[in-house]
Amino acid sequence: MPLPSFLQPVGPDLDQAIRLLKAGELVALPSETVYGLAADALNPVAVRKIFTVKGRPLLDPLIVHTASIEAAESLLSSIPAGLHALAEAFWPGPLTLILPRGPQISDLVTAGNLTVALRIPAHPVFLSLLRQSKLHLAAPSANPFGYISPTRAEHVRESFAAKVPWIIDGGPCQHGLESTILDLTTDTPTLLRPGPLQPEQIEAVLRRTIISRPVSHRGTAAAPAPGTLDRHYSPSTPAVLESRATLLSTPCPEGHATLFFSKPATLQPTDRSSFWLAEQPDLAEAARNLFAMLRKLDASGFSLIRIEQFPDEGLGRSINDRLRRAATR
Ligand code: TXA
Ligand code: MG
Repeated sequence: MPLPSFLQPVGPDLDQAIRLLKAGELVALPSETVYGLAADALNPVAVRKIFTVKGRPLLDPLIVHTASIEAAESLLSSIPAGLHALAEAFWPGPLTLILPRGPQISDLVTAGNLTVALRIPAHPVFLSLLRQSKLHLAAPSANPFGYISPTRAEHVRESFAAKVPWIIDGGPCQHGLESTILDLTTDTPTLLRPGPLQPEQIEAVLRRTIISRPVSHRGTAAAPAPGTLDRHYSPSTPAVLESRATLLSTPCPEGHATLFFSKPATLQPTDRSSFWLAEQPDLAEAARNLFAMLRKLDASGFSLIRIEQFPDEGLGRSINDRLRRAATR
């Protein structure tokens, strides 16, 4: 089977993507977080293809992307406190809200839950596609279930080849980490997945404290948000987390790779096993490069990837969350 050629994010290619989505086909597309694998959220036959192509358990619900707050509200059975304030502050953007679902959304999208996950993406291509098509698009990250999320169009092609023939190439993703997920259906708003948007930013808008669901769910099916499975976002190569001090003071054994947050000041010119996510210790840059680097190292034949643990502050917490899951066997 030939490899997919990339669709351009403008003009006739965008029109073709809209026609394909309306006809119940899948289209991979860029978002500001990671690439998504999109289908018409109100077409169960189309939505089912997402699960098949990804190898995703039907118990793992999907995020629905909408063009506007009004479009989002049309999919709900009620409007929880905090929705308007959060939507006005952070949409379009990397915040997914868990909300009471209305009758249009099928059980397939929500995995039978009474809630639905919604967000308005900020990427101009994704947004104009939503606006022009007037569709609601269900879209998980465009990776095989459990593998590292894609942040470039090539990542989608590498994982799926001809199984996903239509990929819109919008260049590298701005954030490089999946959206922050907040459940607004619980008594106290609950952070289900840390992401680009920080809990303190949410608390400032809600003017109340939020809680984090303790994230340790072993197994694959029963977890409330399978993105919170202990093992997820995982390279095939085993990975371990270490402090920077440990990595700098212990020699890297033959066949192992070391991935630093920022470029170490002292490096042997012959060192072919050290890599870094940012020139300077810049968390946003490291997040942007993280998944592409993990994919590259995974494809390089190392037997172990030693990864520097990030400072547990700000975006560093969201990066550590992904790294801990990547390192879980
Ligand atoms: O940044 C993102 O969120 C990307 C882009 C494409 O929007 N999408 C994404 O989707 O990361 P996915 O399917 O890879 O992760 C969505 C997570 C899953 O862990 C799923 O279990 C959780 O959201 N989820 C979806 N609906 C839910 C619901 N009703 N209740 C609780 N968790 C839900
Ligand atoms: Mg995912």
